[in-house]
Amino acid sequence: MTDTNNSAGTATLTYGDKSVEMPVLSGSTGPDVIDIRKLYAATDAFTYDPGFTSTAACESAITFIDGDKGTLLHRGYPIGQLAAQSNFVEVCHLLLHGELPTAEQYEKFERSITMHTMLHAQFDRFFEGFRRDAHPMAIMVGTVGALSAFYHDSLDIHDARQREISAIRLIAKMPTIAARAYKYHIGQPFVSPRNDLNYAENFLRMCFAVPAEDYVVNPVMAKAMDRIFTLHADHEQNASTSTVRLAGSSGANPFACIAAGIACLWGPSHGGANEEALTMLKEIGTPDKIPEFIEGVKAKKYKLMGFGHRVYKNYDPRATVMKESADEVLAAVGDPNDPLFQVAKELERIALNDEYFIERKLFPNVDFYSGITLSAMGFPTSMFTVLFSLARTVGWIAQWQEMIGDPTQKIGRPRQLYTGPTERDYVPIQNRG
Ligand code: CMC
Repeated sequence: MTDTNNSAGTATLTYGDKSVEMPVLSGSTGPDVIDIRKLYAATDAFTYDPGFTSTAACESAITFIDGDKGTLLHRGYPIGQLAAQSNFVEVCHLLLHGELPTAEQYEKFERSITMHTMLHAQFDRFFEGFRRDAHPMAIMVGTVGALSAFYHDSLDIHDARQREISAIRLIAKMPTIAARAYKYHIGQPFVSPRNDLNYAENFLRMCFAVPAEDYVVNPVMAKAMDRIFTLHADHEQNASTSTVRLAGSSGANPFACIAAGIACLWGPSHGGANEEALTMLKEIGTPDKIPEFIEGVKAKKYKLMGFGHRVYKNYDPRATVMKESADEVLAAVGDPNDPLFQVAKELERIALNDEYFIERKLFPNVDFYSGITLSAMGFPTSMFTVLFSLARTVGWIAQWQEMIGDPTQKIGRPRQLYTGPTERDYVPIQNRG
C-alpha cells in the first residue's frame, strides 16, 4: 500500500537547533499528510494531538469524507447513490472487496452470508447469563466477544481464507445475535433465521415474529431497514473503527476486535447519540418548548444530540437520506404527523438559522432522524445503537482486513506528554504525613 500514495514534496520543521525535512504524501483526494514517522528519531520530540484532530493514523482506500462539502464516498461511490440504488449486501461486498459485485459474485456472496446466519446451539446459553433488564448493548459487547470461543477454525489472522470466513461469519451472525439480545430483553422466545428472506427481512422477522402467528414482512419496513444498514455501513476512521484497528494491531482475533468496536460505539458521543437524540426530542415534547431548550444548549447545560460532527462541517449526507426514510416509514406504519417528527423538523429549522449553530458549523448528523424512524418501525430506544453496531460491523471488518494486509502495519502505540511526578524515593507508611 505504501506505493499507492504520491510524494507532494517535503515539509521542514525546525525545533531548537535541529531541522528535519519530512515527506509530504498525497492521497487520491483529500488533504496532503506530513509523514512524521522519522520526527522523534530526528528531534527527540513527539507530536501532541489529543482527539487526533490533525492526525492520519493509517492509509486507507475504503471510505472518503469531505466534511466541508458534506460528501461521503465508499470506494468512490456517493452514499446517496448507494442508499437509493444499491442494497446493504452489495455495499458489504463493495467495502470488503473494493468493487460492486457482478450478478454472479453477488449471488455467491449473499448465499455465503445466508449460510452463516445460525449460531452454535450452545451460544444461546450466554444470553441467559444476563439479567433481563440488561441493556442490549451490554449483551452485544459480551456475546460478540464470545464468538471467538466458538470459531477456532477462523482465528488465524495470517490466513487470508480464515480472515474471509470470519468476516462473513460476523456479518451473517450479527443480526441473529442482535435479534436475540432484543428478544431476551423483552422476554420472548428466540426466532431462528430463515434462508428464503433477504438480510433486512430476515432481521425484522427475527425481531418481531412470535410463535403465535405468521409474520409478514412489510416491504416499506424492509427497505427502510436495509437503507439504515447501508447508511451506517462505514465511516472512515471514527472512534470505534480506530478502536477496532488499534485492538487488531496487536494481532487480536477479529471477534475480539469487533467486540472492542461495539464497546466504543456505545458511548453517547458516538453511536449512543441516536438513543440520546430521541430521548431529547421526547423531553422537548412540543415545538413551543424549543426556544427554551436552545437557550440551555447555548448556556452549555447540554448538547443538541444528533447535531455536530468532528468531520462534517456541513449537512451530514446520511441525515438527508435518513430524513426521507423517516417520512416514508411514518407514512407507512406510523403517524405522518408524529409530534416528535414535527419537533425534530422545527428544531432543525431553528438551529440552522441560529448564530450559535451557524458559527460552529453544527448541522444534523445521521443520528438526528434515525431514532424517529427506528421508533416508528417498532424498535425501543435501547436497540438503536445495537442496530448501528450490526450495520457498522462490515466497515469495522473491512478496515481490519485492510490493516492486516498493509505491510507498514505496526502495533498501535501512542506516546504522551507526561505531567506527573518525576522520579522520587518510596516513603514507608509510618513516615508519611
Ligand atoms: N450541541 C451544542 N453544541 C455543540 C454540539 C452539539 N451537539 N456539538 C458541538 N458543539 C459545540 C461545542 O460545545 C463547541 O463549542 P465552543 O467552541 O463554544 O466550545 C463547538 O461546538 C465545537 O465542538 P467540539 O466538542 O470541539 O467538537 P468535536 O468535534 O470534538 O465533537 C461531536 C463532535 C460529534 C462529539 C459533538 O458534535 C457532539 O457531542 N454531538 C452530539 C452527539 C452526537 O450527535 N454524536 C453523533 C455523531 S454522528 C454518528 C457517530 O459518529 O456515531
